[in-house]
Amino acid sequence: MSEIIVNGGKKLSGSITVQGAKNSVLPILAGTVLCDGECVINNCPNLSDVETSLKILSQLGCLYQKQDNVVSVNSENVNSNEIPENLMREMRSSVVFLGAIIGRTGKAVISSPGGCELGPRPIDLHLSALQKLGVEIIEEHGFLYCNAKNGLIGTEIHLSFPSVGATENIILAAATAKGVTVIHNAAREPEISDLADFLNSAGARIYGGGSDTVYIHGVKKLHGTVHSIIPDRIAAVTYMACAAVTGSKIELRNIMPSHMVSMLSVYRESGCNIDVTGKSLVIRVPQKLKRIPTIRSQVYPGFPTDAGPIVIAMQSVAEGTTVFVENIFENRFRFVGELNRMGSKIKVENKVAVIEGVNRLSGANCNCTDLRGGAALVVAGLCANGQTVIGEISHILRGYDDIVGTLRSLNADIKIKE
Ligand code: EPZ
Repeated sequence: MSEIIVNGGKKLSGSITVQGAKNSVLPILAGTVLCDGECVINNCPNLSDVETSLKILSQLGCLYQKQDNVVSVNSENVNSNEIPENLMREMRSSVVFLGAIIGRTGKAVISSPGGCELGPRPIDLHLSALQKLGVEIIEEHGFLYCNAKNGLIGTEIHLSFPSVGATENIILAAATAKGVTVIHNAAREPEISDLADFLNSAGARIYGGGSDTVYIHGVKKLHGTVHSIIPDRIAAVTYMACAAVTGSKIELRNIMPSHMVSMLSVYRESGCNIDVTGKSLVIRVPQKLKRIPTIRSQVYPGFPTDAGPIVIAMQSVAEGTTVFVENIFENRFRFVGELNRMGSKIKVENKVAVIEGVNRLSGANCNCTDLRGGAALVVAGLCANGQTVIGEISHILRGYDDIVGTLRSLNADIKIKE
């Protein structure tokens, strides 16, 4: 199994271009199923989750080509409505294909996506919304058999929680439904806006994407289009944390500062100097990081849960004690045990992590427990004394496009050992 080897203590320097957003490209690739023609997706990150999505598209009868960061998908001949169990297991967020497959074919068969490292990850909000849109769902033998016998009919849906995936599934299912669908208490993440922009460029009529109330006027069909994926705000703050823990100055290009407001304010509170110019920023960290009394993860535009592990790794070497309260996922802190092997002093009580800053971490052998927890270990390894060997790196490769190459371009002493 491949491992990432990091020798800590080196200052970083230079400039990087931030990858396209994983959590935007996945629902947009699902959305290409609705388009009767060719879609060209630019700024597509090279991720294993993208590879899995392309395998699903191929399974459905779509044709695709991928060249560097450009993917073209032709969905003229969709001839299946099933996602095989192995692909559902490979990527639980494949559930976002459900709305698009039903929208295109009227039916879908998927295996229950099950849980993941972050917890049980229920999909009750997805399923109850699809049922309101006219989908009959039979769950048996670990599979979901979905059938919109009379087609999808627009309706009003109130989400009890602003679920990102459920909001995306409803938008995808409603785009070609009969009539109007209104989503109340919709998720407001930037990735929702990007999905709505992509679908509208293919002929959909979606209003309010990115707000808490989304209106979808169903249209007969969607056509091919060209779209560029928004920058990945979580990848951006991951590289910023690498600079923060090594006292470095680096530049990030191709960011959307307006998507990062809550995170930039936390980084500034920790003592990072951040100058934003257009779609770039320069982060300088001249002195030891400072404690942050309390950080709480919230739905957008609050501080995102995905940035939690990254900031916890950063604050593990700050002056004083920081408290992080996780309000979204049950098992967000699984990586903490691995981080503490490197000398951090973090105590977890239910949904609260208390991070007592230490002067220096020490390199150790550790394993990724999930995507962002794995990224946190890379951040920690860059400032630890000595060598850190990180195993189970497939978690990291799901969401970071060439993180090792990117950090090496910033002068980090890091490599992948096959
Ligand atoms: C998306 O997951 C992201 N994944 C996650 O990023 C991100 O952490 C999460 O949104 C929150 O921002 C993708 O976009 C592919 P949710 P999703 O539905 O859609 C509960 C990463 O690291 N819930 O907003 O699954 C759920 O259990 C990944 O990039 C229900 O109870 O998130 C959780 O507690 C990890 N029933 C909360 O809502 C449902 O039907 C948030 O889930 C759906 C969700």
